[in-house]
Amino acid sequence: MIHLTDREFQELVDFIRTNFGINLSKKRLLIEARLFSVLAEKNVSSFTEYFNLIRGNSKELITMMNRLTTNHTYFMREPRHFEYLKNVILPELTENRRDKCLRIWSAGCSTGEEAYTAVMVMREWFGLQSGWDYRLLATDISTRVLESAKHGVYSAESLRDLPAGWRSRYFHTQDGQTYLLSDEIKKEVIFRSLNLMNPFPFHRPFDLIFCRNVMIYFDQETKNKLIQKFYDILKPGGYLLIGHSETVQRDVVPFQYIEPSIYQRG
Ligand SMILES: C[S@@+](CC[C@H](N)C(=O)[O-])C[C@H]1O[C@@H](n2cnc3c(N)ncnc32)[C@H](O)[C@@H]1O
Repeated sequence: MIHLTDREFQELVDFIRTNFGINLSKKRLLIEARLFSVLAEKNVSSFTEYFNLIRGNSKELITMMNRLTTNHTYFMREPRHFEYLKNVILPELTENRRDKCLRIWSAGCSTGEEAYTAVMVMREWFGLQSGWDYRLLATDISTRVLESAKHGVYSAESLRDLPAGWRSRYFHTQDGQTYLLSDEIKKEVIFRSLNLMNPFPFHRPFDLIFCRNVMIYFDQETKNKLIQKFYDILKPGGYLLIGHSETVQRDVVPFQYIEPSIYQRG
């Protein structure tokens, strides 16, 4: 096992915090463990040598971030949000809406379960009402999770909290271990690679943004800046849903608090 020196560790922590917002200052062992096999593959003998290799090499940088991000997620995670989507957000956003188009973003989507759960909720809610466009944009910095999201193959464990009817309607399984998501749900989500630290490349505002369990790895200043960017890109009346263990500092960003982890732009 190759160990990080104190200087290398600090250099990497600063680099990742500056470029990706993620604070790994208490994750020394995690970094060493997750990058160990990459160093072996690259045949380098120290982290300094490895940093020289990734500097200015975007492909290697992506490989490193694919290893260092934490991507745990599952269908119907934090179900209160999906209940609120069905009972409050959708009725409110669709009332008197002429363009019949909702703009929804899953920011930090990991392997896609959050975005796909939202599509299932919306399919059920819209039912036979025709003509609505509610495709979701789902983004992440890890290209590995985005590829997996596009494939739409999941473990039984990941589907555990979904209603049984949705499991049988929207998935196909041969062995009861791995489940393939149907194309009718997959085609409603557009996956893109996006670093939330960069300026947002959008021209039109969103009605609803999910950014759940992403900012837990960011320091307060980074969170505040990102939440302000979300505020600016939401339509008036639009919603931000964050993880249940996260909060918005309302003295910094003028979101209206609805209930824990649910905020609205006034
Ligand atoms: C724990 S997952 C959360 C997935 C899902 N939102 C949920 O709540 O289940 C966090 C995701 O945030 C992504 N992420 C972390 N920093 C990011 C950044 N700067 N830009 C874009 N995505 C980021 C990670 O790659 C990871 O897939």
